[in-house]
Amino acid sequence: MIPRQIIDEIIFRNDIEQVIGSYVTLKRAGSNLNGLCPFHNEKTPSFTVFPATKSFYCFGCGAGGDVVSFIMREENLDYVGALELLAARAGITIPTDERPGERDTVPRKRIYEMNLAAARFFRECLWDETYGRDALRYLTEERRLSRSTINHFGIGYSPNHFWLLTNHLHKLGFTDEELVVGFLSGKSQKTGKPYDYFRNRVIFPIIDTSGNVVAFGGRVMDDSKPKYLNTSDTPAFKKSRHLFALNFARRQAEERMILCEGYMDVIALHAAGFENAVATLGTAITSEQARIFAKYTKQVVICYDSDQAGQTAANKAMRLLESVGVDVRVLKLEGAKDPDEYIKKFGADGFRRVLDQSMTGFDFRLGNILSNYNLSLPDELIKASSAVCAMIADAPSEVERDICIRKAAAQMQVSPDAMRADVDRTRRLKLREMKKKQSQDARASLKNLGDRVNVDSAKYIRANRAEETLLGLMLIYDEFRREAADGSAGIDGGDFVTEFGRRVFETLCQLEQTDVGFSKAMLGQYFGVDELSRIEKIEMERRNLARNDREVFLAAIRDIREEKRKGTEAQDPFADLRRKREANQTKKENKNT
Ligand code: UTP
Ligand code: MN
Repeated sequence: MIPRQIIDEIIFRNDIEQVIGSYVTLKRAGSNLNGLCPFHNEKTPSFTVFPATKSFYCFGCGAGGDVVSFIMREENLDYVGALELLAARAGITIPTDERPGERDTVPRKRIYEMNLAAARFFRECLWDETYGRDALRYLTEERRLSRSTINHFGIGYSPNHFWLLTNHLHKLGFTDEELVVGFLSGKSQKTGKPYDYFRNRVIFPIIDTSGNVVAFGGRVMDDSKPKYLNTSDTPAFKKSRHLFALNFARRQAEERMILCEGYMDVIALHAAGFENAVATLGTAITSEQARIFAKYTKQVVICYDSDQAGQTAANKAMRLLESVGVDVRVLKLEGAKDPDEYIKKFGADGFRRVLDQSMTGFDFRLGNILSNYNLSLPDELIKASSAVCAMIADAPSEVERDICIRKAAAQMQVSPDAMRADVDRTRRLKLREMKKKQSQDARASLKNLGDRVNVDSAKYIRANRAEETLLGLMLIYDEFRREAADGSAGIDGGDFVTEFGRRVFETLCQLEQTDVGFSKAMLGQYFGVDELSRIEKIEMERRNLARNDREVFLAAIRDIREEKRKGTEAQDPFADLRRKREANQTKKENKNT
């Protein structure tokens, strides 16, 4: 584990205002700062940074914590990954061999080194006369890639052998564990020995925006299956967070980016001069990837395969990208199955022409709806119209709705006024439903229903309230935490009713009693981001209350123990009897003395 002093140093040197300010536009509001929450979609800022407590909290979605948990959320990293990023940002080096063996995974840096060595090896194999001849022919002749494109992307080849790469990396000092964790070797079930994972495939290295080789995709050169093998998630790589060719595309991304499905599409596009193209790594686009687009560009043109699967995927991608606020266009290719084939057939100029005619999200959706109906039949026209109205009703702005109505009405040859009336009606209905749902949600949250962080809180409302009071005080005041931890306050984890409360309590006590003492920054080691948000909320709500003295502290402890007793008794049908008998007993004893 990273030592406490280094964690403190990392936090000290990463001013929360500056770090969050580099992701979110913050405006000063008194002693705090406000901005639009990066973790949910909102139009009015409910995301707040509190420089005094070095923390943040979103009153809209409940995300909260310190600078480390902000980075965990924003960059989708684990606790150590977030600390490493912040350390690098501040120019702090984390000693790697500090108590070796305590981190069970292979360090990120080591995997990057190994991947780089592997990428070099694959490249050499491709250009090797004997090993690479067929692969090079496949790339240059069948796929028509130029040598400079092959070099630009660092494309390589993994020969049809079981131990070539594994042996090579062994010689460079990489261990079996590193090879297997980094997904370059599989482990033989029989012998337990590692063997090359990629065999007889052309290899596409996946490179992040810092220039690290983070993963590989390997394609067969014939029709055998599976067509591609990809690196699975490793400590240095989550495929949901990376985009193929983003390392190049980000330089041309300011105005527009192109999103395709395949590695080969991206490579063909770049070769044809469209260096703003990227692809996801064999999966549907995720919200993390959508946020990457929002970070680099204003407009995304989705250019998926022209088959049904591609169009359905395009629809989903559109929604996700719209939710992060980029202008989304969709390109439907006619006469070719994907961008790669399109460029081969119609050239770069052909592609540029259709690119500029890409459809807006509205046109794409309208086309999709209308293609499902036969508009010459009155019945179907009515159905189509109500589907279109429901779609338009979702547009937030009046002007936008007006433009859409006119376009749709013209295409369907119906009266725009009638359509407008329908849209308004649908909109009122939807608003009413939304309000209803909101008040249901509000009621549920008052009763803590659906609380996934603390699942017991709905069942034990009073206990939970008392527990949160105590935990809040322990988070804010050293003396309360000390008393709780050393036992002098007369409470321990066993007194807690909710599982989450008990875990937080025991972690606070445990940290308090280490040699280096408690630091909030260390909680990330024990809790996930949602749990950290809850802890932040508990502390913040307590901080905002006028009375936080010893009386409140003692009352909370009393209430917790009382609730625990009730809880245990509820499971004991004879508790009442037993208590009466005990009471009589003490009465007797008192008499006797
Ligand atoms: P495609 O089949 O469209 O691949 O799958 P492609 O890149 O266009 O390749 P060519 O043109 O047939 O050579 C799109 C993407 O889906 C992922 C890969 O990332 C691929 O680029 N994929 C596909 C896999 O991960 N595994 C597979 O077996 C197939
Ligand atoms: Mn293809």
